[in-house]
Amino acid sequence: MAAPSAPAVVVDALVKTFKGEVRALDGVSFEIPTGTVLGLLGPNGAGKTTAVRVLTTLLKPDSGNAHVVGIDVVAHPEAARRVIGLAGQYAAVDEGLTGMENLVLVGRLNHLRRSERRWRATELLEQFDLAEAAGRTLKTYSGGMRRRLDLAAALVARPPVLFLDEPTTGLDPRSRIDLWSVIAGLVADGTTLLLTTQYLEEVDRLADRICVIDHGRVITEGTASELKARLGGTAVEVVFPDEHTAHRAAEAMRGLGDAEPVVDGITVRVATTSGLATTSEVVRRLETTGFEVSSLQLRQPSLDEVFLSLTGREPSSGTQEESGNQEVSDGQQASEGTGIR
Ligand SMILES: Nc1ncnc2c1ncn2[C@@H]1O[C@H](COP(=O)(O)OP(=O)(O)OP(=O)(O)O)[C@@H](O)[C@H]1O
Ligand SMILES: [Mg+2]
Repeated sequence: MAAPSAPAVVVDALVKTFKGEVRALDGVSFEIPTGTVLGLLGPNGAGKTTAVRVLTTLLKPDSGNAHVVGIDVVAHPEAARRVIGLAGQYAAVDEGLTGMENLVLVGRLNHLRRSERRWRATELLEQFDLAEAAGRTLKTYSGGMRRRLDLAAALVARPPVLFLDEPTTGLDPRSRIDLWSVIAGLVADGTTLLLTTQYLEEVDRLADRICVIDHGRVITEGTASELKARLGGTAVEVVFPDEHTAHRAAEAMRGLGDAEPVVDGITVRVATTSGLATTSEVVRRLETTGFEVSSLQLRQPSLDEVFLSLTGREPSSGTQEESGNQEVSDGQQASEGTGIR
């Protein structure tokens, strides 16, 4: 076992090639300190699910190492499975069983005692607001209910390290927020978490650090504000009552900030690396020239903009169906339902 201060997850130069062509992982390395959340971001096909599958022992890498709480996941997959939970991008629960049966089955696979299995299943069904649906087969569950059950299944054995691969994809905003609070609760209790998602708001809220990967490689890493600051897209944004005023005011604001003011409809943007100083200069200039201003703010780039500038793509570019087919074409997918729990 690793010392408490050691990272809970250490990934070192993982390489995974499919059919000798697709280099899904091309030397990925990252660490997750114990008790923290890493947001793994990347466009479709970047290698996120592949990395999660290697870490959760569902897939063997061609080379490189991965350790979870000090256990080598390639050399000791059985031991590794005892300390990890996985809620997959493609929910791994049995359609024909009821919610209760699914969780009890997972408890059995995790060697929980008979009484404890039922007790834990009941507790989780209540926690995830599924108590009323406990006796219904999953065929009758909505997408959101399945997602919740999938996450509940990952928690049966109270794993110290949890992998959530797009846990809220397809959920309505209400269910997503509910799941966020469940996840935040787990983190508060000390769970170490790796989270992949297409929703940047999700990492902005939940992740301590963000690792952006593309083409199987880490392209950048840091906290959300570090990534935003590194992009350097801070600007003073002034909104005017109409476009005509915006154009005239932009003329008046020339020479302020780091670049020529840019007019976008009724908004004028002045790029800056010294936000406060530029803001007060803009305010002074507007006061002396007397233009009417609707609003004024100093704005950091959103995480979406950071992502776009790093990868050249939106986080959700491509379709879920495409990646779904890739998964189904893989013979190892079948193991995702049971072994891991
Ligand atoms: N079983 C497989 N057989 C062949 N190629 C695969 C297989 N699994 C993944 N790939 C390929 O590996 C690359 C990485 O896929 P992966 O599923 O890890 O991406 P991802 O980042 O999870 O994408 P998404 O955002 O769509 O879930 C893609 O090019 C994909 O086509
Ligand atoms: Mg994926």
